[in-house]
Amino acid sequence: GHGPAAGPHAGIDHSTMGQAAPAVALPEGAPLPALVPLANRSREAGRFSGELVAAPVHKGLAEHGKPTEVWAYNGSLPGPLIEAYEGDTVEIAFTNRLPQPTTVHWHGLPVPADQDGNPAYPVLPGETRHYRFSLPSGSAGSYWYHPHPHGHTAEQVFRGLAGVFVVKSRRDPLAHLRDIPLVLSDLRLDADAAIPANTKADWMDGREGDYVLVNGALKPVLALGENERVRLRVYNATSARVLRLALPGFEVWRVGSDGGLIEAPRREAEVLLSPGERAELVITGAAKAGRLIALPYQRGKMMSAEVGETLVLATVAPGPRVASVPLPKRLRRIAALPAPKVKRRVVLEENMADPKAMFTINGKTFDMNRADFVGRVGEVEEWEVINRADMDHPFHLHGTQFQVAARHDGRGWKTEPYRAWRDVVSLPAGQAVKLRFRQDQPGMRMFHCHILEHEDQGMMGQIDVRA
Ligand code: C2O
Ligand code: CU
Ligand code: CU
Repeated sequence: GHGPAAGPHAGIDHSTMGQAAPAVALPEGAPLPALVPLANRSREAGRFSGELVAAPVHKGLAEHGKPTEVWAYNGSLPGPLIEAYEGDTVEIAFTNRLPQPTTVHWHGLPVPADQDGNPAYPVLPGETRHYRFSLPSGSAGSYWYHPHPHGHTAEQVFRGLAGVFVVKSRRDPLAHLRDIPLVLSDLRLDADAAIPANTKADWMDGREGDYVLVNGALKPVLALGENERVRLRVYNATSARVLRLALPGFEVWRVGSDGGLIEAPRREAEVLLSPGERAELVITGAAKAGRLIALPYQRGKMMSAEVGETLVLATVAPGPRVASVPLPKRLRRIAALPAPKVKRRVVLEENMADPKAMFTINGKTFDMNRADFVGRVGEVEEWEVINRADMDHPFHLHGTQFQVAARHDGRGWKTEPYRAWRDVVSLPAGQAVKLRFRQDQPGMRMFHCHILEHEDQGMMGQIDVRA
């Protein structure tokens, strides 16, 4: 197996750095695939009960060539769309048919610590486990689920395991808009159309594929009526790529972040999404075609991989004119968290000289049996997360949503221009953020870099939240 132990420990091979031409071609330009909804087997109101099976399946991805073995939930790429409502109880019967242990992590959701797919609770090959949690009021937002086993998260995600979990509100000010999740994922194929293991460079920089897919398709076409407003839930499900999204010629309004709506729509020319992060956007169809693009982005000071070119992710094709509907001026209220009871510092570092601890948090790599911090249920904490490394390290916390109170761009602290609930924050090299949050349930909660290769190598810690 290519766990982290087989990763960077043998020194760094730069021969694979940089972008090689893709080995095989993928068909492009098909209509945007809709995500397959996960069936709710419960007849009871307020209950969502579904089944997920993770297993290898073969898909004809390459234009001409062999079918590709991917790892998928219920055979779909990306995984099935789970849609439930605030207040619902969710039960997912999950079966592992992979050749290695896995878990299902409910990224961003406030689920009990023992239901959150931590590596401490592996589901072994052949086993079934029932995940159970409820969705509190106020939790409407764009979440996702993906594996989180010890040391193999990156591999399981880049082989295809990731799915969308949307929590809806019964009082959604945007309920009248078509709701379209867009899952952006990375794919690399070798000459046999197989998904290759990580290279040493991938273990350093984080893996980028040859293609960025949208809902599993290359450069799909979204048909949009002229004047039609749609709500896009954009997911960065790549291992490591920072996506600077733009849709030139179109009005793009940001209406939400990871944990649901922001207070009011904001016109944005560009939306930066780091790995693991989501944004809700409202766009309006025009009489002409457009292109959703990812602009070049430099993920740090020392990256030997080039900054890259502009990528076309999808095209927007004009459709028949429809009556225009207004965008509400207010979306919801987000109260600022009160002054923190506890303040902590979390320092992210790289030590290229130590292959066993290249990526550390407060000087340490992950230990499942160590609590890095002890906190209390209901207490507001403020974490100053400082990136002393030469590379971007997007920071993620489990079990709750946080507010970014301020960002330090290397020159000084700046307060955020708007309030939002997030669970991932982009943290460029040399910068820092102040996060505020409260954990409402007890248990061990992980925090880590969401570059999945760094997470697998232990750029991760835990806070033990006590009742
Ligand atoms: Cu999406 Cu602990 O991660
Ligand atoms: Cu998570
Ligand atoms: Cu990292």
